Amino acid sequence: MQENQEKFIEKVKEKNKNKKLKYSILTMGCQLNENDSEKIAGMLTKMGYSEIDDYKKADLVVFNTCCVRENAEERLFGKLGEIKKIKESKNLILAIGGCMMQEKNMLEKIKKSYPFVNVIFGTHTMQNLPEDIYNAIVKNEKVKDVIDIDGEIYEGLPIKRNSKYRASVTIMYGCNNFCSYCIVPYVRGRERSRKPERILEEVEELAKEGYKEITLLGQNVNSYKGNEKIKNFAELLNAVCKIEGIERVNFISPHPKDFTDDVINAIANNSKISRIIHLPLQSGNTKVLNEMNRKYTKEQYLNLAEKIKNKVEGVVLSTDIIVGFPGETDEEFEDTLDVVKKVNFEQIFMFIYSKREGTVAAKREDQVPEEIKHKRFEKLKELYESRVDENNEKYINTIQKLLIEDKSKNNDKMFEGRTQTNKVVIFEPNDTNEIGDIVSVKITEAHKWYLKGEII
Ligand code: SAH
Ligand code: SF4
Ligand code: F3S
Repeated sequence: MQENQEKFIEKVKEKNKNKKLKYSILTMGCQLNENDSEKIAGMLTKMGYSEIDDYKKADLVVFNTCCVRENAEERLFGKLGEIKKIKESKNLILAIGGCMMQEKNMLEKIKKSYPFVNVIFGTHTMQNLPEDIYNAIVKNEKVKDVIDIDGEIYEGLPIKRNSKYRASVTIMYGCNNFCSYCIVPYVRGRERSRKPERILEEVEELAKEGYKEITLLGQNVNSYKGNEKIKNFAELLNAVCKIEGIERVNFISPHPKDFTDDVINAIANNSKISRIIHLPLQSGNTKVLNEMNRKYTKEQYLNLAEKIKNKVEGVVLSTDIIVGFPGETDEEFEDTLDVVKKVNFEQIFMFIYSKREGTVAAKREDQVPEEIKHKRFEKLKELYESRVDENNEKYINTIQKLLIEDKSKNNDKMFEGRTQTNKVVIFEPNDTNEIGDIVSVKITEAHKWYLKGEII
C-alpha cells in the first residue's frame, strides 16, 4: 500500500477515535468486484470502522457498482433513493465506486442528480479511498477520484475476507478481448497481470491462516502473463497446487480461445483443482460468435469441451450464455440449444442481451425485440432445468470429497459442504467433523438444488 494512504488511514482513525463508527458495503458485481470490496473493507477496518450488515444503520456506506447489464443501474438508483431519505435524518458518508463510475454518462448523472453522494471513486483509484474519505470528512466537500487511464497494480492493500476457509485471489486486472456486447474492457482497462511471486506469497499466507480453498480471479485468467520463472496460467496453476494446506483450487473465468493443452494437463494432473470448469459459451452459433468477437466457432467449442471431458476424469462444465444478441435469428439460437444438449452443462448462467452504450453491438440497428429475447430465455431455461434431475441423480451412490462450509441453514444438526464439482451436499456430521474440514461422504439422495449424503 502507498505510504501516503497509510498516513490518511491513521488520520481518519484519529478523527473517529472513541466514536464506534460502523461501515457497510453493498457489492453489486462479480467476484472481482467482491474481492475489491474485501480490500475496501480491509482499509475501512484499519480506519477504525467496524462492519454492520444493515447499511441503513451504518455511518459510512460504500456502494461497489457493476455495469455489465442494465438492471445493475436500476438497482443502484433504487438504493440511492432509499439512502437519500436516511441521509436527511443522520450524518452519513456515502461513497460510490466500482465499474459504473468509470462510465462517463453515469459519472455525470451521479454528480448532477445525486448531489448527496460524498465520494465517487473509480476502479483504478480504489487504493486512494483513505484520502478520499479523509477529505470528505474534514473538508465536508464532494470528492471525485476517477481516472481513465489504467491504474497500476497496488500490492499489499489490507483485506478483510468474507470467509475463513475460502479465499479469492485476483491474478490479473482488465480485459483485452472486446467482445462486442461487453462493457468490461472499457471500465476495467487493459490486461495487467500480477507478478507470480506476489500471487504465491498471498496464497502461502492464506494457507498459513488456515484457508483451504482458493479461487484465482480475472476476466480472462488463461491469458495470464507471468515472468521467466512462472510464464503462464498453466505454470501458475501448478505452482499454486504445490502450496501445502491449500486443498482446493478454482479459477474464473477462462476464455475458450486461450484454453491450451498445458492448462488442460495442469488440471488433469492436479487433483486439488476443481472438477467443475467454467467455459463461457455465450452463443452456440458460429456467425453470432464471430459477430460477438469471441474468436472460436461452434465446432471448436464442442471439440474443446470434449477434449477437457476426455482428459480430466470426473469433470463437469458450467457456462455463461447470452440470448438475443443483435441480429440473432431463431435458427441461430437453435445452435445454442444444440450445444447445451451436446455438452450437458452442470450449471448455466443465462443472460438476456443488454445494450451497453459505447460497445460495438449497441450500435447495431437489428436489436432483437424484448419479447423474443424473453421467449428464448425461457426456452433455454426449460432445456437446462429438464436436465437438472438427471445430472444430480448420477451422483447417487458415489463417494464425494466435501469441504465443510457451514451448518445447514434449515437444520442446525446438519452440516453443509460442496463437492469438487461445486454441488451442495447436506449431511449429518460425526463428533469429530468441524467446519473447514475435508470429509468423504456417500451420496444418498438427489434434490433439485442440493444432494444428501452420509459420512463414511
Ligand atoms: N470475462 C468473463 C465474464 C464477463 S461478465 C468472461 O468472458 O466469461 C459475465 C457474463 O456476463 C459474461 O460471460 C456474459 O455472459 C454476460 N454479459 C456480458 N455483457 C453482457 C451484456 N451486454 N448483456 C448480457 N449479458 C452480458
Ligand atoms: Fe467481457 Fe469478453 Fe472480456 Fe469477458 S472476455 S470481460 S465477456 S470482453
Ligand atoms: Fe460488473 Fe465490473 Fe464485474 S462491470 S461484472 S463488476 S468487472
